[in-house]
Amino acid sequence: MMNDVSRIPLLSVSGLTVQFETADGPFQAVEDLTFEMHERERVAVVGESGSGKSMTMRSILRLVPRPGRIVSGDIHFAGKDVLRMRAKQMMALRGSEIALIFQDPMSSWNPVRTIGAQIREAMTLHSKVKPQAIRARAIELLKHVGISSPEKRVDAYPHEFSGGMRQRGMIGMGLANHPRLLIADEPTTALDVTVQDQVIRLLRDVNSVHGTALLVVTHNLALVASLCDRVIVMYAGRVVEQGTTEQIFNDPQHPYTWGLLKSVPRMDHAAGELLYGIPGQPIDPSLRLQGCRFQPRCAFREPRCEKEEPALEAVGENHLARCWVTMKCVDRAAAVIVEQATS
Ligand SMILES: Nc1ncnc2c1ncn2[C@@H]1O[C@H](COP(=O)(O)OP(=O)(O)O)[C@@H](O)[C@H]1O
Ligand code: SF4
Ligand SMILES: [Mg+2]
Repeated sequence: MMNDVSRIPLLSVSGLTVQFETADGPFQAVEDLTFEMHERERVAVVGESGSGKSMTMRSILRLVPRPGRIVSGDIHFAGKDVLRMRAKQMMALRGSEIALIFQDPMSSWNPVRTIGAQIREAMTLHSKVKPQAIRARAIELLKHVGISSPEKRVDAYPHEFSGGMRQRGMIGMGLANHPRLLIADEPTTALDVTVQDQVIRLLRDVNSVHGTALLVVTHNLALVASLCDRVIVMYAGRVVEQGTTEQIFNDPQHPYTWGLLKSVPRMDHAAGELLYGIPGQPIDPSLRLQGCRFQPRCAFREPRCEKEEPALEAVGENHLARCWVTMKCVDRAAAVIVEQATS
């Protein structure tokens, strides 16, 4: 039945626009962005730097940094209207129902307080755990995220933890109040390859054991393939494609997604992560393009692409793409030649 509670999406973002005032006038970092996710789902958000991924994640918790602001759209979490919540409800949502993990775990910890004190604080703010049980629970959480000797390490300071331990500790703190949604913004970017694997395994466990839904921002396609059921592809503030992981990897329909997947991975040694790049200029926020935002880099563009922006439309079951042409209608081999000739 339509009123079945389980059918209410866990998270629903609709028409979200985040704007910055700049010297050249208003700039939309996120524009008319719409997506949904359900309880227990594992969704990846991919797209190159500057595509608006972090602003989208921050919007969900109303943490867009000034001078940016949400100028239109709706965000509902479990049916509740996030943009109209009062401060108290918002605090409960942030600490208890949704956990947000950032790329740089060092900047998220307070350097002058112990790891345990910070986990305990997160718990006492929101949970009903008795004071005597709180230290034990903090130790249990550290153990759960794979920190060895948690009884000792609970009294350590953030600088005494390695980068990977800090990130796992942050996930542990995020889990303190059993959130229904864990948002991780590039959780593995600053970590080396073996630690990345541990974090991915941990996120998978969190989802399967606790049923926590995952919304993971990443440009690590291996992480997407191994962890997520569904993928949202963003470009220049827009969703340009979304579908199941299988659809996105095996049958991408937007030329940007296609380019992202066929581009050659290179190892960024500093970050120890696979990064993918596609030809052409990266996103230039100062370009206020008419029509499709991807046209300066698209090998398949047609005259109408420069005039009118395509809508996000169904290209298969639960598969959407924002393109006038779509990959099923083009000669991919010819496109490779065009690219080579113009590069
Ligand atoms: N303080 C700011 N002033 C103006 N523009 C900003 C500011 N912060 C971010 N932006 C713009 O918002 C856009 C999206 O940023 P972000 O969400 O961080 O991208 P991503 O996480 O995908 O790399 C970027 O193109 C950036 O230029
Ligand atoms: S709408 Fe046109 S320019 Fe944009 S991605 Fe599709 S083919 Fe390329
Ligand atoms: Mg970001």
